[in-house]
Amino acid sequence: MTVFADRVTEVGPAAPFLISKLVTEARADGVDVIDLGVGQPDFPVPENIIEASHDALDAGQTGYTASKGIPALRSAAADYLNRRHRLAYDPEHIIATPGGKHALYVTIQSLVERGDEVILLNPSWSSYDPMVTLAGGRSSHVDLTPYDFRLEPAIDDVAEAVTNDTAMILVNSPSNPSGRVFTDEALRGVRDIAVDHDISVISDEIYKEFIYEGGQQSLAAYDGMFERTITINGVSKAFCMTGYRLGFLAAPSEIIEQVGKAHVHSVSCASSISQHAGVEALLNTDVDEHIGEMMQVYERRRDAFVETCADIDVEVPLPEGAFYAMLPVAADDDMQWAKEAVRKAGVGTVPGSAFFSPGFVRVALTQSEELLVEAVDRLSSAGML
Ligand SMILES: Cc1ncc(COP(=O)(O)O)c(C=O)c1O
Repeated sequence: MTVFADRVTEVGPAAPFLISKLVTEARADGVDVIDLGVGQPDFPVPENIIEASHDALDAGQTGYTASKGIPALRSAAADYLNRRHRLAYDPEHIIATPGGKHALYVTIQSLVERGDEVILLNPSWSSYDPMVTLAGGRSSHVDLTPYDFRLEPAIDDVAEAVTNDTAMILVNSPSNPSGRVFTDEALRGVRDIAVDHDISVISDEIYKEFIYEGGQQSLAAYDGMFERTITINGVSKAFCMTGYRLGFLAAPSEIIEQVGKAHVHSVSCASSISQHAGVEALLNTDVDEHIGEMMQVYERRRDAFVETCADIDVEVPLPEGAFYAMLPVAADDDMQWAKEAVRKAGVGTVPGSAFFSPGFVRVALTQSEELLVEAVDRLSSAGML
């Protein structure tokens, strides 16, 4: 009999991919499903990036690259973070990875020791907790749900969650799934705790371009944070390049040196073609115009969805960023609810328990206004809301 490692058997499958499979199966059986489960922009990759991808292939850029990334990509990523997010990274502070997900994975592998604790702010993205488990650590959960998903009222809870075993706090703002954008006061609270206790912080800023109103300072730009922060970003969401699998992490050199080992021994390097496309994305795309167009659409969808729910007395917290919304559902088992919603109502969603926020399902605003409104109607008509 094959004996598996506990740290692998302990983690479950990824809920968004599980729901996606159920949607595919239901569609194959002839069920008409509005899929609000998948977390990827429904916009095309900008034309200049497609061209750069072809050019990379035509130029024979098909071999391994330097493990941490081609110099042009490391430089473009640092330039992008400094220009767009007012950070202060050099190209040597960057590792290009196959997706932001791998950047998170290798960082957690490199910084979390067996038995270490990582503080998660729930609802938290469904892969954080499994990544901590796979590294031999355990998550310490701070629940933001009672505070309407806001962080500043929970800062004392975060401080109380710190123990001698705490290795790291994981912050994701704008948040997937809640859509909350953490305030300056909240981020200063994180800074104070991290500096006081000498704890590392991962700041997952993959949705940072997706803020409906105002902005947000990056955690690494706060006093005392540069040296202890690993900033995660990538091209998947902002440039609609999920299938290219290209992300990056940015951190001080001593962190890059250690994380670089986990990276080279796991994947060698990110895809060469994607890296060349990434240079074009980060350096030559008119980000304001490209994101501005998407945000106008997402905002109309967000408002249509929240208002349609309000019309039937279902209160959805207004997302401030990213492209998700949390729909409250009266179900003891929200995974069962989400499975039923696919077959019974023809709507795909991801259960909140996958994000440690039971009682909700996550809705991706990646379908048209009409379909989002129809999805609420379908769920309501099926007696599920
Ligand atoms: C919060 C968060 N971080 C990181 C990622 C990783 O994205 P990718 O690996 O596509 O760059 C995702 C993807 O859904 C996400 O939602």
